[in-house]
Amino acid sequence: MAHPGKENVIDIHGVTAYSGTTCVFREFSLVVEAGCSTAILGPNGSGKTTLMKLLSSDIYPVAEPGNHVRIFGMDRWNVFDLRTRLGIISHDLQHDYLRGARGINVILSGIYASIDTWENQHFSGEDLQKAEAVMADLGIGALKHRAFGAMSTGQQRRFLLARALINNPDALLLDEPTTGLDLNATFHYLDQLRRMMRSGKTVMLVTHHLHEIPPEIERIVLLKEGRIVGDGNKTEMLTSDTLSSLFDYPLQVVTVNGYYQVLPG
Ligand SMILES: Nc1ncnc2c1ncn2[C@@H]1O[C@H](COP(=O)(O)OP(=O)(O)O)[C@@H](O)[C@H]1O
Ligand SMILES: [Mg+2]
Repeated sequence: MAHPGKENVIDIHGVTAYSGTTCVFREFSLVVEAGCSTAILGPNGSGKTTLMKLLSSDIYPVAEPGNHVRIFGMDRWNVFDLRTRLGIISHDLQHDYLRGARGINVILSGIYASIDTWENQHFSGEDLQKAEAVMADLGIGALKHRAFGAMSTGQQRRFLLARALINNPDALLLDEPTTGLDLNATFHYLDQLRRMMRSGKTVMLVTHHLHEIPPEIERIVLLKEGRIVGDGNKTEMLTSDTLSSLFDYPLQVVTVNGYYQVLPG
């Protein structure tokens, strides 16, 4: 069980990591505690995708004494063990997904942390009930038989969220969750993330979009060229000065109802 405020969802310490030939992180450290939803904000090329890949074991840190990447205290994990603790929702997953999979199978595949479902996988009545409940919760039940490839981007995004939620994980890690969504789909999706946070889940998202940081996210980590250049609460981090420096462009911050947006300064 998670102990909000005590357990670390992620604990990266002293890590060097490469994406291809580029050394993206040197001596990189970041801890996110359970219960403290966090946005990692950085411009293109700052290392957001590399960070996601480190956490999903798509890449590994350079082996050096004393460094570690831990998820819920575990040094070694696989996606199967992880799925009930941390749901990872990334664009790579979306693109690689079998386009022929039916909506319901997209969700059920989360139970095995696999892509689509195969003949030899057994789903109990309870699994099917859970899938139905998650679809009802996200309002996507009408699409359960539709092929994933025949859904809109917003619908696909919701099915991938449902795929993570069927395991009822304690935390969710999302990569630019609303990229490609229209305004309705964006705010609908963000409302769902807000509900998850209010129900006690820890949400971590990496992004360069200010508008997709929901009001419930308290902590902002600013990432630039693979280094953390700021870490604190929203009012400290999301100022015109810090963001102008982060993005190397004069910017002005606007805030309405707990949401932030930027305009040219
Ligand atoms: N396959 C690769 N080969 C070489 N360099 C890469 C590769 N992938 C990413 N990089 C470099 O690593 C850095 C971080 O990239 P990335 O993590 O994708 O940043 P972000 O997601 O924040 O835009 C960038 O300088 C990028 O050019
Ligand atoms: Mg990226």
